[in-house]
Amino acid sequence: MKYEIKALDKKAKSATMETVHGTVETPLFMNVGTVAAIKGAVSTDDLKEIGCQVELSNTYHLHVRTGDKLIKEFGGLHEFMHWDRPILTDSGGFQVFSLAKLRKIKEEGVNFNSHIDGRKIFMGPEESMQIQSNLGSTIAMAFDECPPALAERKYIETSVARTTRWLQRCKTEMDRLNSLEDTVNKEQLLFAINQGGIIDDIRISHAKDISEMNLDGYAIGGLAVGESHEEMYHILDVTVEHLPQNKPTYLMGVGTPINILEAVDRGVDFFDCVYPSRNGRHGHVYTNYGKLNLFNKKFELDKRPIEEGCTCPACRSYSRGYIRHLLKANEMLGMRLCVLHNLYFYNTMMSEIRTAIRENRYTEYKNNKIRTMLEGSK
Ligand code: GUN
Ligand code: ZN
Repeated sequence: MKYEIKALDKKAKSATMETVHGTVETPLFMNVGTVAAIKGAVSTDDLKEIGCQVELSNTYHLHVRTGDKLIKEFGGLHEFMHWDRPILTDSGGFQVFSLAKLRKIKEEGVNFNSHIDGRKIFMGPEESMQIQSNLGSTIAMAFDECPPALAERKYIETSVARTTRWLQRCKTEMDRLNSLEDTVNKEQLLFAINQGGIIDDIRISHAKDISEMNLDGYAIGGLAVGESHEEMYHILDVTVEHLPQNKPTYLMGVGTPINILEAVDRGVDFFDCVYPSRNGRHGHVYTNYGKLNLFNKKFELDKRPIEEGCTCPACRSYSRGYIRHLLKANEMLGMRLCVLHNLYFYNTMMSEIRTAIRENRYTEYKNNKIRTMLEGSK
């Protein structure tokens, strides 16, 4: 893997990252396909058309249903879902804590019941690496615990110390798996995850500890889980500078377009979020003048595209009024067009961000973009 910073505009960075599945340009948005599918009937051909560089899938979901061993039989996730560009898999840590029932955390890992059929499953750092190795993703994430946002200091300290020990075990296991003969992707990368709630000194000391462990990239987890936007920006202000700048910096599960613009300003260059696809499925679409709810009656006779000038597959051919009709009639095409537009909006914004950083006008770009989005729709 080769990560090279191409431009810096204050703290905002734009880089290229070469992987076995091709080269990507940052800042970038990873399009979320939890179960190896972007919800809203979006195909991998669609993903290419809307400018997606990296697809993201989930270890937990693919393990509990269908199974990573079956996917390995297909030659890994890339072959299985017909996507030849980079894939990042989340480790299962976060999903075990947010979805699974009756979980119990021990030093070795987590015992939990599947949210699908209640079956008992154990997952620790080694199991998470083995599953991600079977999936053969480009980037695997370390197995971490995401403590509740409002947990008290003692709990967070204990949890973060364990996440650090788990990281060492992930690294050892990933090195072993990458050296095996029948491994799907022998150059699988591993990113660490910084935790620490909204407690500055825990975040900083954890960032320093994991930075010394020489991972391929560094994520910031445990944010956008109930704290305010200001608290999140503050944690980025104090934490990012203690992570290696010459490696990818990934803010997990974030966020709104404004959250992304603010985080880029603080040195983050990888993002993922369910908002564009989830909102699209509910008829909520992003524009440069704010979000629209296409279910709203005022769009009934609106012959304009979702956004004037947008060249996404929805805006190229269809009116707001028609898409509203599809949504009201519960036609799948309605959802699909909204999701395609939203993903195109996010990926296009990332492309604008990269250009602005490379042209040294990121602050101006960001301020303008936020201003028009907050001004509201026309
Ligand atoms: N996705 C969003 N937040 C997190 C986190 O803290 N850990 C993991 N593994 N995934 C996440
Ligand atoms: Zn569009």
